[in-house]
Amino acid sequence: MQGTWSAGGSVVLVSSDALRTLRQGFPVLERSAYLNAGTCGPLAWATADALGDAMARATVVGRAAAYYQTLQATHARLRAAYAGALGARPDDVALTTSTSDGLARILAALPLGPGDEVVTSTDEHPGLDGVLLALRAARGISIRAVPLADVADAVGPATRAVTCSHVSWITGERAPEDALRTVGRDVPVIYDGAQGAGAVAVAPEALGCAAYAGAGQKWMCGPVGLGMLWVNPAWRDALTPLAFAYGNLADPAAGLAAEPWPDARAFDTPALSAETAVAGATAAEHLAEVGWEQVFARGAGLADLLEAALRERGFDVAPREQTTLLSVVVDDPPATRDALAAAGIVVRDLPGRPYVRVSTGAWNDERDLERLLEVLTA
Ligand SMILES: Cc1ncc(COP(=O)(O)O)c(C=O)c1O
Repeated sequence: MQGTWSAGGSVVLVSSDALRTLRQGFPVLERSAYLNAGTCGPLAWATADALGDAMARATVVGRAAAYYQTLQATHARLRAAYAGALGARPDDVALTTSTSDGLARILAALPLGPGDEVVTSTDEHPGLDGVLLALRAARGISIRAVPLADVADAVGPATRAVTCSHVSWITGERAPEDALRTVGRDVPVIYDGAQGAGAVAVAPEALGCAAYAGAGQKWMCGPVGLGMLWVNPAWRDALTPLAFAYGNLADPAAGLAAEPWPDARAFDTPALSAETAVAGATAAEHLAEVGWEQVFARGAGLADLLEAALRERGFDVAPREQTTLLSVVVDDPPATRDALAAAGIVVRDLPGRPYVRVSTGAWNDERDLERLLEVLTA
């Protein structure tokens, strides 16, 4: 996708009819320049309707066998939708309640014990840091944290796993994918894909990772309480999920003789309502209709254009790559966030960092970026 800032300051970016229709489905975009999908994506009316309809049906009809049949079918639909966004097979995708949930499930399933080293980066989200802290307390692992660009180089003889962001939530920088692909041949690499899934092309098998955790409420535009965990079948034998519930077992009636599903369903969260799942599937299918390649190109294309425009105007932008996040240096991030909010522009600040972070999705348009620039340069 090509785009430039015209001499007059407006963004010119190729935009298909499908993208224009997509934008119209998100009511929040009529009220504000919503640039915050890195926290939570915009919700479409179609998503809210799907959730409301499912809840109404359960309310009127009750929740018995038919409810659970629908639930299973809806889970399969959601799994397929998430697999489509990741570029993966549905059998390899577990349904979780969040990125953090997926990271906890997969890291706890690794055979990590006292002294085993886990390499991570110094800029991880608490959703990942928290799991590592818990594993240090419970299992005695040691944690080695280095800048994201250096995680592959930090791997040594004591390293038993590497886990880091695929896309940094602080800057929009990407992990050193090529070097980690090599590492991943011997050591499990677990990506935190909260800012990757639905935002950039992932293709986890090609990344050579053991697992990839993503969120449903961010770039997939679903409700809070949804996530995905891709589990590489090649690593399955090395993983022991810590808890199985009804849905994780191939034959739950077998009691203590029951076996887990041989695919990623062994990692599913035990409780994902049909209402939440149908909303998440509707949201993801909506984006898939536009075409994931278009969605990825448009989102990152807008961030690239914004970066160029900000730099041209003398702003410092944190080093980033072709992703949907951009962090701009400002004197007082909370005050800038609030000033932007007062003008109807939604971004976030990052605690302890000199940035406001802008998230650009396929649903954003040139005017959203211009509004941001107008306030920042005022
Ligand atoms: C890099 C990263 N990891 C993890 C999380 C936590 O995501 P979730 O709320 O889906 O657990 C976030 C959320 O902002 C994030 O940006």
